[in-house]
Amino acid sequence: MHSREGDLRKAPIGVFDSGVGGLTVVREIMRQIPNESIIFFGDTARVPYGSKSKETVTRYSRQIVRFLLTHEVKTIVVACNTASACALEDLEKETEVPIIGVVKPGARMASQVTRNGRIGVIATEATIGSRIYSQYIQELNSKVTIFGKACPLFVPLVEEGLWQDPVTDEIARRYLTELIDCDIDTLILGCTHYPLIRSTLGKIMGEGVTLVNPAYETARELRRMLEEKGLLNPEEPGLGSNRYQFYVSDKAEKFKQFANSIIKYGILSAKTVNIEDY
Ligand code: DGL
Repeated sequence: MHSREGDLRKAPIGVFDSGVGGLTVVREIMRQIPNESIIFFGDTARVPYGSKSKETVTRYSRQIVRFLLTHEVKTIVVACNTASACALEDLEKETEVPIIGVVKPGARMASQVTRNGRIGVIATEATIGSRIYSQYIQELNSKVTIFGKACPLFVPLVEEGLWQDPVTDEIARRYLTELIDCDIDTLILGCTHYPLIRSTLGKIMGEGVTLVNPAYETARELRRMLEEKGLLNPEEPGLGSNRYQFYVSDKAEKFKQFANSIIKYGILSAKTVNIEDY
C-alpha cells in the first residue's frame, strides 16, 4: 500500500522515459506546473525501446515504476510514447498511484484540431506497430483517417545534436513525403525526441499542417488531473528541497550534458541506479 505521512500534495511526480527524450515532457511540466517536484528516471542503459517488443518494454516499465514508487511519488507520468503504447494499459491496472501516458493527450488534441479528418502520426516502429494512436483517435471520432509513419532515424539524429542540420532535413523530407501525399492537416509528433526538431518538421509540412506536441498536451492533462484529485502542490518547494532529481541506468554524465541543452534550469546532478534490482 501507498502510505505516506503528511501532505500528499507536496509529494513529487515520477516521470520516466527510455532515455533522454522524456526531458521534453519534464520541460513542459516545469513550465506549466512550476510548484511541483519531479523525480525523473531515464533508462539510458536499455534505450531504445522503439525497436523492442511489447513484452520487453512492459517488463522494463514495471521495474521503473517500482523504482519510482520507492520515492513515494504521488503520480507517475509515462513520458515515453513507446512505453505508453506498449505498457500503459497493464501499468494502470497494477499501480497504486494515478498514472498517465503521453499518447491519449496527443490523440485527443489531434482529434480536436483536424479540419479535414486526416491525421498523420510519426513515431518509433513499436508505437506505429501498436496502432495505439489510431485506436484512441478513432474512439473519439470514427470518421477520422490516421496515417502512421515510423521514423527510426530521428532519435539518433536528435541525440547527435543534429537538430538543424541538412542531414536531418533530407531524412525528414524522405519520411514525410508520404504523409504530405496523404493530404493530412494535422501531424502528431509521437516520440519524445521530435519536438526538438519541430521547426524542421514544420517547414517541410508547411503552414497548412498543425503539429501536435504530446509533451505539451500531457503536462496540461497532468495539471488538470492533479487539480481534480486535489493533488496540486499549493506552494513552491523551498530552496534546497531537491526539487528536481534525475536518475539514469547508465552514463549519468552524458545524460547531464544532454539534459542541460534542453532544460535551461541547470541540472546539477544525475545519479546512476541499477534498475535490474527493481
Ligand atoms: N522515448 C521513445 C519514444 O518516445 C523514443 C526513444 C526510444 O526508442 O526509446 O517513443
